[in-house]
Amino acid sequence: MDPDLLARMDRWLPDLTAGLAEVYDEPALIDRVVTLLVEAHDSRPENLRARDRARVLRPDWFQLPSTVGYAAYADRFADDLQGVRARVPYLVELGVTYLHLMPLLKPRPGANDGGYAVMDYRSVAEHLGTMDDLAELAGTLHAHGVTLTLDLVLNHVAREHEWAARARAGQERYQHYFHLFADRTEPDRYEATLPEVFPAFAPGNFSWDEAADAWVWTTFNNWQWDLDWSNPDVFCEFVEIVLFLANQGVDCLRLDAIAFLWKRLGTDCQNQPEVHAITQALRAAARIAAPALIFKAEAIVGPAQVVEYLGTGRREGRVSDLAYHNSLMVQTWSALASRDCRLLVRSLRRFPAKPTTTAWATYLRCHDDIGWAIDDADAAAVGWDGHAHRSFLSDFYAGLATGSFARGEVFQANPATGDRRISGSAASLAGLEQALLAGTSDAVDEVIARLLCAHALMFGFGGPPLLYMGDEIGLRNDRGYARNTTHADDNRWLHRPAMPWEVADRRSDPGSVEGRLFSGIQHLAATRSRLAALHAAVETTVHETGNAAVLAAARRHSAGTLVQLYNVSEHAQQVDSAAVTRHGIGPGVVDELTGTAIDLGGPSVTVAPYAAWWLCAAQ
Ligand code: GLC
Repeated sequence: MDPDLLARMDRWLPDLTAGLAEVYDEPALIDRVVTLLVEAHDSRPENLRARDRARVLRPDWFQLPSTVGYAAYADRFADDLQGVRARVPYLVELGVTYLHLMPLLKPRPGANDGGYAVMDYRSVAEHLGTMDDLAELAGTLHAHGVTLTLDLVLNHVAREHEWAARARAGQERYQHYFHLFADRTEPDRYEATLPEVFPAFAPGNFSWDEAADAWVWTTFNNWQWDLDWSNPDVFCEFVEIVLFLANQGVDCLRLDAIAFLWKRLGTDCQNQPEVHAITQALRAAARIAAPALIFKAEAIVGPAQVVEYLGTGRREGRVSDLAYHNSLMVQTWSALASRDCRLLVRSLRRFPAKPTTTAWATYLRCHDDIGWAIDDADAAAVGWDGHAHRSFLSDFYAGLATGSFARGEVFQANPATGDRRISGSAASLAGLEQALLAGTSDAVDEVIARLLCAHALMFGFGGPPLLYMGDEIGLRNDRGYARNTTHADDNRWLHRPAMPWEVADRRSDPGSVEGRLFSGIQHLAATRSRLAALHAAVETTVHETGNAAVLAAARRHSAGTLVQLYNVSEHAQQVDSAAVTRHGIGPGVVDELTGTAIDLGGPSVTVAPYAAWWLCAAQ
């Protein structure tokens, strides 16, 4: 056996065995899995093996301050994979080092939830190209210092996937890949405690399937069939898929809807311990056969639960390497609407420390809607009613509240819970549509300042910030989606526009909206990359400043403490100097973003509207 592979077996086999033993009662499973690992390693190209060796030597590559992410649909960004290759210089120009291409594996025909209904994990969607194009794109990205992330949709497959087709044709082996029920008895018992993800267009969690002659577990749409992960065959299938994708040059897999993987009666069927045991086993498998690969958890769950996806206790650092920081995103929009950071501080302070070997992926917008995941107790602690605040945010971002600057749309209103999630692009939600209609340069200036302040918070928080395609040039809502029959009922397409390259070309005009946003973000990326204190191993702590409109965030690093101030309002604000100096820097400090010296010698300082300060001790 290859000595590297042998050494890695020695290192990670215990994690794999322990993870499997927690979930599966099949002692021979470990041998099956090891055989798959050896096969995958044998067919791993030499350049990727070299990448493995490099990554083992630099396991913190995704935690480095230079890591800046960008997420895009390949076709909306550049038509197809070859087109994406041609646009790599654009990403590099922006400072991007991590590209997440939205689902691109062969989806079911017709509606497919933006590719999240995969029919074949080993082919690329026809309109995007071929597996060879994908491997070639990975090579080009790597040559430019950019890594490639793809989605691993592992909670469900398309109803048209071969496994589902075989189950529907009555093949028993494949019936065990899914959760099928002859009648409503079991589904009804589960439904008693299950929430609904798409209450408007796919109510309920089970769908009757004529061909299978059964009720099928379908958390999302009725053509997305949930897999039964208690079946070891499903685990083995995914080991093969993970390593197949890794062998094309993929650096990171985004574990889609990972929270839903394990079902348990009497619960909401999210965040079950088996999910983490399975992820631990999958990750250990990848560490052995392709250690250049990391995992990013897409778990849109509460503070206490989300940290489990990075691993705590005996699983510390053994689960996913990255996880989306949904709370930071939600709380940022909440703070911008209310001009008040107290709720953000309250809720982020509830996060337990994450393992030092992992990182949060921070983001202001993504391809999904925003759900107002605001805890009633947190809201009460700042004197607000949780329900009323969530309702205010929905009204505000749908542009219905007096004084709102936003232009979003309500997604999946749920009369049973009162939830109204929100769709809309970052620029439209932050007020660009309204400001351009108002036609005054002051109004536009204010929106640009608001957007750059929010982006600065994402870039300053410590894990890789993920830009969503078009945010770097302030792309607004695209209402054209309503004309596309497969998209019309899903207004998340409002914020998934195609890249208008003629508009992007305006980025070289320093006076244009595009130029100002693009250069602002470029500057955030460049500044971030030179600040050692932004390495993701370090925790961010958030603090009130005595002025509700100004947030303080501190990062203690041996290279020097970094204290950040963010004014989330359109007014200049006074803040006690102690809000910064209590963290051990000052009175002489420098704002790394502008290079300006700031004197904290007096009792207070003035923070300009929407200012973002990244303060280090003056040398
Ligand atoms: C994730 C995706 C979302 C999709 C869902 C089902 O939450 O981000 O777009 O609808 O999973 O796959």
